[in-house]
Amino acid sequence: MGTPSFDKNKYVNRIIEQAESLPPFPNVVQKVMPLLQTMAPAKQIEQVIQYDPAIASRVIALSRSPIYARRHSIGSLRDAIIALGQKELIKVVLAACSARYFKGSTEGYDLREGELWEHAVGVAIMTEILASFLNNKNVFTLYTAGLLHDIGKTVLHFHVKDQFENIIKLVKDKNMHFLDAEREILGIDHQQLGGLIAKKWNFPDVVVAAIRFHHEPTKAAIKFQEIAKIVHLANIMVATMGIGCGVDGLTQPGEEAIFKEMGITSKKISELLAEFGDRFKAIKDFLEIK
Ligand SMILES: [Fe+2]
Ligand SMILES: [Fe+2]
Repeated sequence: MGTPSFDKNKYVNRIIEQAESLPPFPNVVQKVMPLLQTMAPAKQIEQVIQYDPAIASRVIALSRSPIYARRHSIGSLRDAIIALGQKELIKVVLAACSARYFKGSTEGYDLREGELWEHAVGVAIMTEILASFLNNKNVFTLYTAGLLHDIGKTVLHFHVKDQFENIIKLVKDKNMHFLDAEREILGIDHQQLGGLIAKKWNFPDVVVAAIRFHHEPTKAAIKFQEIAKIVHLANIMVATMGIGCGVDGLTQPGEEAIFKEMGITSKKISELLAEFGDRFKAIKDFLEIK
């Protein structure tokens, strides 16, 4: 399938090369983690974060949002570190490190500037809400996979735009899901590309698998399926709220069975969405990508 005039292998290789040339994921996360685990003083943590001004300013900005700041007024990086506390700090650092990849619009997917970033943070927040409901303790893994699940789109959207007519033709004529049509025409889909990027950035296998299978979690290795399913459901729920729901649509094969299997009734979905709405509203104004 595809247009006979182009060499699909060459095309895929070019896409992969572009993905591999993304700047490496900042290693500030790996540096900050051990400091948090040993309860290092804020001054020491500040010393690590301050060398990356983009991350430092984002940590301050995010820590000022009502869901983090609460009683504190944040004037400096040190204030932000103290106000956030260990668990929140690591999530904010993860978000700060991820933001730079989501700059610009992702026109191929019909998303305005910043919308994919809002979607990424939204899915990360929703994974936390689901993790707490499901009593899953892998919060940082889920949060990371949630933030980066659509990272493949940041590269693939150029190609989706180029080949849009061919992709949509398959969606319409063959009643294909957008993801399958994307893979058919481009030779790779955004989950596969995202998995490659996460692997290149040395994320653990579970994060790579959750990204790689976020639209089809039952295809992940058994040991990674629960995490992949939570990211899958979080993605659907956030898209349902209209956050980052682009041209690839809302419905996904098998979603109802997965909600059911996880014991999430439609009444529970409404409750979780309400909780999400409040939390997302509190953080939304602090998400701009500078
Ligand atoms: Fe996706
Ligand atoms: Fe998504």
